[in-house]
Amino acid sequence: MTFWPREHFKKFFLQRRSFQKRVSKAFSNFYSSIDSCQTFASFCSEVHGREVPQFNLVNKEQWETFLCEADKIFFNEGDYLLDLGCGLGYLTEEISARYNIQGFGMDFSTTAVELANRRSSLIFEERDVQNLKDKFCDRQFKLITSFDGLYGSNWKETLKALLSVLSPGGKIMIFQSTVLKNRDDKIPLLEDFEMVTSKAWDFTESERAFYEHSKGVLEKMKRQFEKEGSHKAFSIKEKECDKGLFWHQKGLAKRNFVTFERKLIG
Ligand SMILES: C[S@@+](CC[C@H](N)C(=O)[O-])C[C@H]1O[C@@H](n2cnc3c(N)ncnc32)[C@H](O)[C@@H]1O
Repeated sequence: MTFWPREHFKKFFLQRRSFQKRVSKAFSNFYSSIDSCQTFASFCSEVHGREVPQFNLVNKEQWETFLCEADKIFFNEGDYLLDLGCGLGYLTEEISARYNIQGFGMDFSTTAVELANRRSSLIFEERDVQNLKDKFCDRQFKLITSFDGLYGSNWKETLKALLSVLSPGGKIMIFQSTVLKNRDDKIPLLEDFEMVTSKAWDFTESERAFYEHSKGVLEKMKRQFEKEGSHKAFSIKEKECDKGLFWHQKGLAKRNFVTFERKLIG
């Protein structure tokens, strides 16, 4: 066990709190600006290839890969889904309905959780995924997902906590984009972990194409966004694309889909 002097612990805790506050506020801003925005719904349908409002980088190819892997899980009645960084929870609802399992969503954006709970009959909780440890003693999940919903997590700690609540035969399935410091750096999500077998897909090129396509669609819909008074949503998405393409040009962007299963002993 690592021993942290009191002042280090306090500093880490305060930094984490300020990170969480800043990021969750930014997301809440975004969600307020797209709530019931028709143009954003049309934008999603063009870039994700499906009529589901979402705020991630999952295109049709990535979504189909996800479904192909999730379809292999043997679900029973009474199984649970946990969606980490669920945002407005549309994907949580869709997956929960597809496999007929009870869905839970977790997000540190107050607005996301409020809007999701207002719309859906599933349960959405405001919580930082970083603080998962010991929170679920009473529940096990057959499927744990995250669609670009894990920011600033200590990945090793988070994975350990998730494994402790994964039902036998269950899977953890994560989409994540990373900006590397150096081209040859190893992505934390792709490290070898004891106790798990993992499978990984590299969607870096697919992400670059997604940004390019999104930029074109945004340009085409700019007037429509403005007409609906949703300039803020437009500008957040535009900045996201520019930033993303910048890191791709530098060769430092990586996108992965990774699944984890508990390692069978013996
Ligand atoms: C890019 S959005 C994706 C939302 C949703 N998964 C979707 O596909 O539409 C990222 C979401 O993850 C949430 N998030 C990021 N890091 C988180 C963390 N450590 N704990 C809880 N929520 C987090 C943000 O508040 C945001 O709503």
